[in-house]
Amino acid sequence: MRLAGKVAVVTGGGSGIGRGIVLALAREGADIAIPDIQVLNAEKVADEVKGLGRKVLAMKTDVTSSADVKVMVDRTRDALGKIDILVNNAGMAAPPGMPFTNNTEEDWDRAFAVNTKSVFLTCKTVAPYFIERKAGRIINIASIAGPLSAPTMPAYSVAKQGVITFTRVVAKELAAHKITVNAICPGVLYTDFWQKLAAHIAETNPAFKGMTPRQVFDKRVNDIVPMKCEQEPADIGNAAVFLASDEARYITGQALMVDGGCVMY
Ligand SMILES: NC(=O)c1ccc[n+]([C@@H]2O[C@H](COP(=O)([O-])OP(=O)(O)OC[C@H]3O[C@@H](n4cnc5c(N)ncnc54)[C@H](O)[C@@H]3O)[C@@H](O)[C@H]2O)c1
Repeated sequence: MRLAGKVAVVTGGGSGIGRGIVLALAREGADIAIPDIQVLNAEKVADEVKGLGRKVLAMKTDVTSSADVKVMVDRTRDALGKIDILVNNAGMAAPPGMPFTNNTEEDWDRAFAVNTKSVFLTCKTVAPYFIERKAGRIINIASIAGPLSAPTMPAYSVAKQGVITFTRVVAKELAAHKITVNAICPGVLYTDFWQKLAAHIAETNPAFKGMTPRQVFDKRVNDIVPMKCEQEPADIGNAAVFLASDEARYITGQALMVDGGCVMY
């Protein structure tokens, strides 16, 4: 029980990677808040957390809204007593991709609002409280799309690289307060996010024409993942547990690739 007595907020914890992070943190003893725009999913995951014997709060939150984020932080502190760990996981893919001239202004605004501005809003709201306590862990879920500069996902790649840069900026500012700020970059996982993306790729990219979403995904894994096998949300959850634990107290400003070797540097 490496996180016994801790309270974690996991944005977008109602599905996919977020659910994997929620369950990994809860298994290590943390109570959990799950703010998600799809509240029914958050409630289902909350039932799983209760089954593990932890306290949990599921709530409808749009992380692109500063008002929603403030309510979410206040409600978490009221219901669970405090916040020790903030995991910024909510995000979305932003098709269309190549060529970038196919992108609309709205695609870029939405990609930045959900993937990047949301991280600014939650950090801005939680940081004064962490500073007061002289403690806190922030973990931002970025993506290998940032360092890979994926031409198939222009707005998303830039937005996720922005998350990595913001992680480092905030890590430098908060280091003196004993608050660590790190990013995790997942590789490719077959969540709702990737199923939608794969369906779009099959429709729009001639190299994938006629393939099912699952076939597109398997080809992607085979093409870019050196380990040649699929990863699971639990892999990201385990990395989050480590970064939230006492063992990681001296690690800050890092972007940890959990990707089967896609990005090495
Ligand atoms: N699946 C992958 O291959 C992959 C790879 C690298 C990074 N990521 C990142 O991992 C994170 C989780 O992705 P996933 O694959 O689990 O996707 P997902 O679509 O299964 O889950 C995303 C979650 O975020 C929530 N969400 C979306 N917009 C929101 C908003 N405005 N406010 C609150 N909640 C919102 C959704 O309701 C959902 O529960 C994202 O940040 C994504 O960019 C995913």
